[in-house]
Amino acid sequence: MKKHIISPLDLTCGEIEELLHLSARIMENPQQFAHKCDGKILATLFFEPSTRTRLSFESAMLSLGGQVLGFSSANSSSTAKGESLSDTVRTVECYADIIAMRHPKEGAATVAATKLECPLINAGDGGHQHPTQTLTDLLTIHQLKGRLDNLTIGLCGDLKFGRTVHSLIRAMMRYTGIRFVLISPPELTLPEYIRSDLEAGGFPVIEAERLEEVMPQLDILYMTRVQKERFFNEEEYLRLKDSYILDTDKMRLAKEDMIVLHPLPRVNEISTKVDDDPRAAYFKQARFGRFVRMALILKLLEVE
Ligand code: NCD
Repeated sequence: MKKHIISPLDLTCGEIEELLHLSARIMENPQQFAHKCDGKILATLFFEPSTRTRLSFESAMLSLGGQVLGFSSANSSSTAKGESLSDTVRTVECYADIIAMRHPKEGAATVAATKLECPLINAGDGGHQHPTQTLTDLLTIHQLKGRLDNLTIGLCGDLKFGRTVHSLIRAMMRYTGIRFVLISPPELTLPEYIRSDLEAGGFPVIEAERLEEVMPQLDILYMTRVQKERFFNEEEYLRLKDSYILDTDKMRLAKEDMIVLHPLPRVNEISTKVDDDPRAAYFKQARFGRFVRMALILKLLEVE
């Protein structure tokens, strides 16, 4: 396995399969893994807000018997004094065995990893990639649908800035029989560099502006939040923020066994009434995030 995980493509399909298998073993018998990382330290360096990613990383390491340290905002680290990212991570490496880092700039994880000896996991770099959310998504899909191939997946909302969407598409492109349905306003369509990869790979891509039109075809609906923090213009955000709201009426159009995923946090894009629908899987998804991160830490530290 590669030392650093910056994009989901840093893992082969075989490695992903192993990680999902290991996650399932951990879920079945967590006790068996409770001391695998005794004496190891994970550093979580979060230069951007987070609830699930940071806490699930920390919960993962604590569940393995390891310990955690870190910071949850840029202004509580020496970044506020003008320290470079590269110096910060080289320092943290003196105190930890593995690093999970989130940063608002695209490419930050690649830059941070260049001089690093210990493994670095990208926990989100701007609007670019978020590989461990993708592992969480893949584990959820595998657990709930029983497969990672032959699926029609609808991605809805902010496809332009949503890094979880970019990473999930990259990962799903490697499985057979995947159909992507892209649902977004024209202002928030998928970046050209990902779209051209889809075209080059000969993937069937359907684009739609209205969710209702495509709902009946979907096996998975992946909802996303409009990424307020990536907008240059607040007015534009306010105009687009409620482009899609999944409600119980729209759910009536969907297959009985469709699942609704969302990396969370949700703002307005899924009505809380949908939470009671058995097809709503986003809180299960959040739960899976802890186990897949346990599996990843074990593999990167070569404990398992
Ligand atoms: C996502 C992120 O940070 O990209 N959240 C997460 O990690 N679960 C999605 C988002 O913030 O909208």
